[in-house]
Amino acid sequence: MSRVIWFLTGNNGKLNEATEFFAPLGYEVRQLQVNPDVIIEPQSDNLNDVAISKIEQAMSHLPNSDNSEDMILVEDAGLFIDSLEGFPGVYSSYIHKTIGCKGILRLLDHLKTEDSVRLASLRSAEFRAVAVLCKQGEIFIGTGTCPGYISEKIVEGNGFGYDPIFVPFDLDFDNNSLSPGEYGEISTHGVPFGGVEMSIKKKFSHRTRALNDLVNQLPSA
Ligand code: IMP
Repeated sequence: MSRVIWFLTGNNGKLNEATEFFAPLGYEVRQLQVNPDVIIEPQSDNLNDVAISKIEQAMSHLPNSDNSEDMILVEDAGLFIDSLEGFPGVYSSYIHKTIGCKGILRLLDHLKTEDSVRLASLRSAEFRAVAVLCKQGEIFIGTGTCPGYISEKIVEGNGFGYDPIFVPFDLDFDNNSLSPGEYGEISTHGVPFGGVEMSIKKKFSHRTRALNDLVNQLPSA
């Protein structure tokens, strides 16, 4: 029997990524849907605090289940843009709903150059994710980052959120992110996450890294 993880999220993109991640490890991910008005997101400039508060609130919404081994997962992410002092950061969701990717591109409009390496430095940014899992009352916290830069144009296709404008830096042979202008074994060749397959995004993703960090802490992993 596979072990069940209830993922508190209304975001299908996140759900798909977590499902793909956990399936080979023998975990079944099910969506824990709670009316968003019921879960209060604390005003905090720290992703960890937000995720821990949400998991504490989610515990009382777990469906009746015969299996006390069921786990709960919460994941919070944000886009931190260096030239904007980390904005939108913990406000990423609100900013995406209001000004969206177009608005972010407008904010960075003055950061332009023909030199692609310089461009990647000027427009550098980072996705950060915190994944919190509750297993029989015990809390595990995994973190992950994905450095890259904000593209000049929106690329629609796959993905969600800021994927259409985020280009990850290349990865070396050991999956470590490189610096702007360094060419690695794994690359999207300047294409934002929105223009690549999920299987490619997975290699770079802050979410994959946070979930890996989490799984490495689980006693049975
Ligand atoms: P939250 O973790 O759902 O609060 O995410 C905050 C904001 O960042 C939302 O607008 C998400 O769509 C966006 N976001 C989170 N993870 C990703 C990602 O992997 N790619 C693109 N956007 C993301």
